[in-house]
Amino acid sequence: MDTLIEKTKEKKVFLETFGCQSNVLESDHVTGLLLKNHFSMTPNAEEADVILFNTCSIREHAEHKVFSRLGQLGDWKREKEGRVIGVMGCMATSYKDQLLERAPFLDMVVGPDQYLKVPQVIREAAGTGVSQVLADFDPVYFPENDPNRLAQPHKAFIEIMKECDKFCTFCVVPFTRGREISRPAESILGEVTSIAQAGVKEVMLLGQNVNSYGLGLRSKGQGASFAELLRQVGQIKGIERVRFMTSHPLDMPDDLIEVMATVPAVCNSIHLPVQCGSDKVLKRMNRKYSVAHYLEQVRKLRASIKDLFITTDLIVGFPGEEEKDFQGTLDLLDEVRYDAVYSFKYSPRLGTPAARMLDHVSEEVQDERLARLNEKAWKQASEACESRVGKVEEVLVDGPADKTPDAYYGKSCQNRTVVFPGKGYKAGDVVRVKIESHKVANLYGTIEK
Ligand code: SAH
Ligand code: SF4
Ligand code: F3S
Repeated sequence: MDTLIEKTKEKKVFLETFGCQSNVLESDHVTGLLLKNHFSMTPNAEEADVILFNTCSIREHAEHKVFSRLGQLGDWKREKEGRVIGVMGCMATSYKDQLLERAPFLDMVVGPDQYLKVPQVIREAAGTGVSQVLADFDPVYFPENDPNRLAQPHKAFIEIMKECDKFCTFCVVPFTRGREISRPAESILGEVTSIAQAGVKEVMLLGQNVNSYGLGLRSKGQGASFAELLRQVGQIKGIERVRFMTSHPLDMPDDLIEVMATVPAVCNSIHLPVQCGSDKVLKRMNRKYSVAHYLEQVRKLRASIKDLFITTDLIVGFPGEEEKDFQGTLDLLDEVRYDAVYSFKYSPRLGTPAARMLDHVSEEVQDERLARLNEKAWKQASEACESRVGKVEEVLVDGPADKTPDAYYGKSCQNRTVVFPGKGYKAGDVVRVKIESHKVANLYGTIEK
């Protein structure tokens, strides 16, 4: 056996993941590669020989968390020879070798397209002590679930495309991930078929912008539109629920709405990030749609899909946002009445066009607007939840409830958490629950016989 492999055989790896679901999926993929390469994993940083952070650059706060964790590791590294510290994910591609200036004891900086090399890079770092930076874009593979090693036996995320071509002016993703590329439909259908045979009942199709599946410059010849792909996934034997994320409101074709409305396995929920409710600000964000276009998409969706669960992302305090623009966002909430809103204070990202805009909104004003926005959004989400009381929900069971004894929890088709008393259920069971009350965003009820 190679001496470097011999040397790393006993090495325990601690891998901590920050950021979005792509990172979660890719961390799982890297875990699989490490296990195949004779490393072992540990959930405990104290007993690790290798510490890896899979990082996110979407907002400054996300990066701060990692810089402060790294700052604590210098002494740990020096205490024992052969220890390895690595940064993966979007900070690897946004900072590249600059990370070594911030944290000189770092051994490896590896971007998302280079993960196949992670085991080898760890071995080399442990054996030679030389730092490596691998941050080029080169999307040669899509991470796949291993049917023998699923995090949850009944649910899985499936990556159907990578990266993004939209270039919203606030967003770092096109710079950290590179150009959009769609995965061939046969490969997606093959993966879903094999995990369905292993017992998976729900899949979430994942991409920064799934509605443009097959449309990007590097996606020609893939053969299926997103709507067609969704239809085919929904017809795979054993798959009872199909979800997808994220949809860009610009590309919301009618055939997609039709598939959502007519294919039984496709869930009645959609995440449709609007970002803001002012045409002026949307234009400066380069979102390429107007408020009227967005509302028209919502109207069409609601007209076709019963009980649609609709969520969004909103940014407050984008450069140049005036009180009247923000008022437009509040008006939009009144118009749509979202089931959940994910709201963020604008965070300038190095290299993005918005970071160079001169009319930044003060932190004080951002805080004040965020508080007003959240108050309205919470009230509406709570009212939407309340409207489920008295209804019967079909629930896919996730497991025993944490805080309520002798109770289980799961998700409704809309993706609301439902808690119900009972005994002997297992993840993946499907039950019907009559909803009797709600607390914050959770529903409580009893099994309908
Ligand atoms: N591809 C998805 C979202 C990716 S990032 C989409 O286009 O909707 C998730 C969310 O983070 C975005 O929807 C946006 O609301 C938020 N976000 C992205 N960049 C940001 C920034 N610089 N400051 C604050 N929020 C940001
Ligand atoms: Fe970022 Fe916009 Fe692409 Fe979403 S669509 S990842 S916000 S550039
Ligand atoms: Fe963050 Fe990169 Fe995902 S910036 S949100 S980890 S694509």
